[in-house]
Amino acid sequence: MAVNKKNWGILGAGLIASRLAKAISQVKGAELYGIGSRNLEKSIKFAEEYGVVKAFGSYEELCECPEIDIIYIATPHSFHKEHTLLALKNGKHVLCEKPFALNVNDTEEMITSSKEKNLFLMEAMWSCLLPGMKKLKEMISGGAIGQVLYMEADFGFQAPYDPTARLFNPVLGGGALLDVGIYPLSLATYIFGQPESFKANARIGATGVDEVSTYNLKFENGVIANLSSSISVETSHSATFYGTEGTLHIPSDWWKMKKIVMTNGSKKEIDTSYEGSEYAFEVQEVIDCINKGLLESPSLPHSWTRNIMSLMDSIRAEIGIQYPEEALS
Ligand SMILES: NC(=O)c1ccc[n+]([C@@H]2O[C@H](COP(=O)([O-])OP(=O)(O)OC[C@H]3O[C@@H](n4cnc5c(N)ncnc54)[C@H](OP(=O)(O)O)[C@@H]3O)[C@@H](O)[C@H]2O)c1
Repeated sequence: MAVNKKNWGILGAGLIASRLAKAISQVKGAELYGIGSRNLEKSIKFAEEYGVVKAFGSYEELCECPEIDIIYIATPHSFHKEHTLLALKNGKHVLCEKPFALNVNDTEEMITSSKEKNLFLMEAMWSCLLPGMKKLKEMISGGAIGQVLYMEADFGFQAPYDPTARLFNPVLGGGALLDVGIYPLSLATYIFGQPESFKANARIGATGVDEVSTYNLKFENGVIANLSSSISVETSHSATFYGTEGTLHIPSDWWKMKKIVMTNGSKKEIDTSYEGSEYAFEVQEVIDCINKGLLESPSLPHSWTRNIMSLMDSIRAEIGIQYPEEALS
């Protein structure tokens, strides 16, 4: 219905911004209205390439645009709080990239601000919104492979080494944990809840961020999760749940959740693929929630974001990573 059409603005014209631009164009009821970049020329180029209505040469101008309903924050982690607060201050609903913030204190500030202003706010952890994730949770809780005792999942890739770039630069919140470790941690906590204990390990690189890190979680129900992430080596990109009566395997790239392979006596493939962009689900979720007058998503509530940020704070404390901005506060 035209009355429910929502105009989107993208803040920051980087890599993920271009993927979201394509996804927004696939969702009925979503219009890609504005792009904001620190550089007007870059903004205009982005607008031409992705069919954006208006290009802005600053984030402030984008957030002040009265036609825009929702701002998608697509800047490096260390700016998520500042840019989310800017959008909320200007009366915009917000979809903020993962990790939601650098730490749980910043997370609280962002959530509090959205509630005070009566605006919707959600973390862009899209893989938790895919149909395959729902199916996986149902299969595990329904006992498809008996009682699950153990799981493993990883997300590791080899980024070209550049100490100044987002992934390696501590000023921009660099490191594997916050960039990709958050995916296997999300998978485990989405299925089993918050762990009761964990052990973490990391290989810290020359810039002082974790280039490889591992997380061994133990949940209240006794399940153990062995998870890992990397920005310096490729890993298998797969996830497997081991139960007393079989296994559920999600092949590479597991976070896209295209199929689940169940082995319990025989082997069966469950098709969980979908049409279009994997990011379209989060765009749709934001629109649906706003149209229902919700301030948070029932599928990805603030409590879930708060829990995962708090877990990552504790992991960072164990592996010895503090970001420069935090040391100043
Ligand atoms: N959900 C996913 O699948 C996914 C995938 C990749 C990344 N991400 C998340 O999205 C965020 C952005 O990642 P990205 O890979 O898109 O990063 P990127 O390509 O480096 O782009 C980030 C953009 O942020 C803006 N920015 C503002 N201040 C900056 C600064 N001091 N240094 C660098 N850039 C600055 C820039 O936009 P302007 O120059 O236009 O102002 C830049 O193009 C990260 O938090 C990351 O975790 C999510």
